Amino acid sequence: MSQIQLLPAVEKFLAQPGRLFIGGTWQDAASGRRFAVENPANECVLAEVAEGGERDVDTAVAAARAAFTGVWAQQSPAQRGLLLFRLAELLDQYREELAQLITLENGKPIATARGEAASAANIIRYFAGWPTKIEGSTLPVSPSSGAPMLNYTLREPVGVCALIVPWNFPLTMCVWKLGPVLATGCVAVLKPAEQTPLVAIRLVQLIEAAGFPPGVVNLVTGLGIHTGAPLAQHPDVDKIAFTGSTQVGRLIAQAATGNMKKVSLELGGKSPNIILPDADIVRAAKGAADGIFYNQGQVCTAGSRLYVHASVLDQVLEELQRHAAAHVLGPGLDPASSMGPLVSARQLGSVSAYLQRGQEEGAELICGGARPAHLERGHFIQPSVFLDRAERACVAREEIFGPVLTVMSWTEIDELVLRANDSPYGLAAGLWTRDLRSAHRVAAQLKAGSVWINCWNVVDPASPFGGYKQSGWGREMSKNVIDAYTETKSVFVDLA
Ligand code: NAI
Ligand code: MG
Repeated sequence: MSQIQLLPAVEKFLAQPGRLFIGGTWQDAASGRRFAVENPANECVLAEVAEGGERDVDTAVAAARAAFTGVWAQQSPAQRGLLLFRLAELLDQYREELAQLITLENGKPIATARGEAASAANIIRYFAGWPTKIEGSTLPVSPSSGAPMLNYTLREPVGVCALIVPWNFPLTMCVWKLGPVLATGCVAVLKPAEQTPLVAIRLVQLIEAAGFPPGVVNLVTGLGIHTGAPLAQHPDVDKIAFTGSTQVGRLIAQAATGNMKKVSLELGGKSPNIILPDADIVRAAKGAADGIFYNQGQVCTAGSRLYVHASVLDQVLEELQRHAAAHVLGPGLDPASSMGPLVSARQLGSVSAYLQRGQEEGAELICGGARPAHLERGHFIQPSVFLDRAERACVAREEIFGPVLTVMSWTEIDELVLRANDSPYGLAAGLWTRDLRSAHRVAAQLKAGSVWINCWNVVDPASPFGGYKQSGWGREMSKNVIDAYTETKSVFVDLA
């Protein structure tokens, strides 16, 4: 086992306590408090970071407001685009640093973290193209007076946006939200997850280096209850964009009613993945395994319910066991590891409890189910597969957010679609088939924001992403997200 060498810049970064960034100044929390960030692969403290509180949230929101009405409003769309292009270049330039920080604080394998860092640059580059293309329209109105009337629409930035993000993709989640904020001329107060504030701090350093004016992006690190909650309640925040648990999403939606903030939410999922009998079974089983084991299963779109046609069930189960057994668990900094630890002791506790309860409730454990014996430290859990014939166990219905797949079998397609849609969630769904007709018919029937045919977890900034039902409100990325960060103003001009 040999781990990659940390870059000297990363070592230096970790040695300094992480600070808040408010109105263009790096500062400690008003309380002076800090919290520790843990490396989930060895349970050691990685770094200390400022623990923001209500006072810091107030100062950050005020700094954002000042930038919104001042310096930032004076920048042309082309200038905003240029700053975003510069940021994309810096994300490319410091990709390895960002990747190492992601692996250190989240645990994921370094190759996955490198992919996340590379995609961050591409997402920002996509949004860099937007500022000069956000346009209104002229509309053919018919006033009853018969007076000649001109009507046109203007698109204006919503204002101060609170961005509350989770730990599973600590960089991607920041740029998915900052991209449209900066493209539309909004301003932000960013609150990363307490488990993974480090890559967010490094990102904000790069935002500063790119030349964004002070106050446009503010960073308040801290705990959900002490920084996230006051942000969600703040009367001078115009919009809140949240990714995380459905439970906290509900609290955010309630808090937002105080001043009727615009709200977008990306929440949980229990996404159905369907294998039809005519599919390329080897490829489908590999896709199903990757769809649940990728990122240790800590993915909102994890394909956690696998519906396999009864005629190919045995073959698929065999393939799944083979893929699970092939995973090498170990620290993400070891390039030989294909699966890292879960993010925290709490997450490990919750996944382990599901493994236990699943068996108690009658699901049959096909493989995995325990901590790997050879790893003494770190929040590791084996990739696990259940078969649940009755489809009644918690592992068949609830979001686990770990590398735990529950397999069910089916025989009749219409009944299967009902079962696939029988969930409070509707984030993603997928199917594996070689038949064009079934592919498009089933895709149209699935109640999910993303449907993947013969693939899984494909996302692209040009394509909308979001959930039906309790998986969220609104869409991220694509032109859809531009609507979520702009107000539309209708202007009438009497020409009589
Ligand atoms: P969480 O929803 O508590 O945390 C997400 C973000 O919300 C973090 O930045 C956190 O600090 C913040 N937050 C927490 N409480 C808050 C509050 N009262 N007001 C405002 N912000 C608050 O998620 P957690 O506890 O880390 O994970 C629990 C479960 O949530 C996971 O097991 C998983 O099922 C789900 N989850 C889903 C994610 C997704 O991508 N959809 C991401 C992370 C977690
Ligand atoms: Mg929580």
